Amino acid sequence: MSDSVFLRACRREPVPYTPVWFMRQAGRYMPEYRAIKQRSSFLEMCRSPDLAVEITLQPVRALGVDAAILFSDILIPMAAMGIEVEFAPGPVVRNPIRDRAAVDALRVPEPAESVPFVLESLRRLRGELPPQVALVGFCGAPWTLANYVVEGSGAKEFVRMKQLCFEDPVSAEHLLAKLAATNAAYLCAQVAAGAQAVQIFDTWAGILDADDYARWALPQVQTMVRAVRATGAPVIYFARDSGALLPLLTQTGADVISLDWRVPLDQARMQFGTDVAVQGNLDPAVLFAPWDEVARRADRVLERAGREPGHIFNLGHGVLQGTPVDTVRRVVEHVHARTAT
Ligand code: CP3
Repeated sequence: MSDSVFLRACRREPVPYTPVWFMRQAGRYMPEYRAIKQRSSFLEMCRSPDLAVEITLQPVRALGVDAAILFSDILIPMAAMGIEVEFAPGPVVRNPIRDRAAVDALRVPEPAESVPFVLESLRRLRGELPPQVALVGFCGAPWTLANYVVEGSGAKEFVRMKQLCFEDPVSAEHLLAKLAATNAAYLCAQVAAGAQAVQIFDTWAGILDADDYARWALPQVQTMVRAVRATGAPVIYFARDSGALLPLLTQTGADVISLDWRVPLDQARMQFGTDVAVQGNLDPAVLFAPWDEVARRADRVLERAGREPGHIFNLGHGVLQGTPVDTVRRVVEHVHARTAT
């Protein structure tokens, strides 16, 4: 099972074709997903192994992707820390964490007790997926999670976490360390339950300049990568809007660096050297273009990624609502055909 095309690409081994999957490949753009959504809340969908397994498999059946990502959310493991999260549809925290007392009260839970439904879903998925489709687990990066739990919701400008860093750096550090410990244990438990690779989502890395990234975000990711390393599963690190952070990203220790569409992959590979694989990075909005343009842009991603081993085709961020499913499916087919050796 360890020799799926996806896992070989993560390890920078030669592959018969470039593997493809998509961030947020399950979701509202799919009629099958909307049918389940009509009957259940998002939290029910995440917490029920029957539903989470079915939703995870939907894009595998519809698109022919090389990897399945567990259907869940980065905020799901926060509940057992003592952070009350609702989805409307974006995350809303009922008790935002903004001072030392709130940080000190947070627990670092044991995954087997706090997220048994996630581990059960992964065990079932590994049994149901064909061997050539890899199973990817995930979590949020501490910096990105901290911005949601301190701000209390998604925001146009995340300012409250930066404010905590300035006003009470010790509490900010404690919060990040608790998030890192919780999510490191969470990733290791996901691998033990059947995830063959894991992705750390640092969606809000790009709101930091390089100095602040090195101070607040990077050390926590390094701690998590070291913890997962012991399992042998490859770690993918996604940092959105990270053009200014490129020289620091390989310091995370991740096996694969996932980039958004604003960084050309040839430039990234030159910067990173040959010790790391890259993932990405088609602009999700391109999937709304006429097919010829989609194909041209996908080819450009492939050209820039080059023929050296270690490229996983993906979008630069998640699939957008309203994306035509058939275009997504054709991209998988196209990338496979174009790169077949
Ligand atoms: O990729 C997949 O298919 C797995 C599922 C997945 C979801 N969220 C499902 C989801 C994954 C990997 C995530 C990660 C996640 N969640 C991130 C990091 C990646 C990214 O997109 O930047 C972040 C920042 C979150 C927090 C979050 N959850 C936001 C901002 C939102 C609202 C956005 C939206 O699309 O409405 C959510 C809700 C959410 N998570 C939905 C889904 C399918 C929408 C829920 C619904 O159907 O109403």
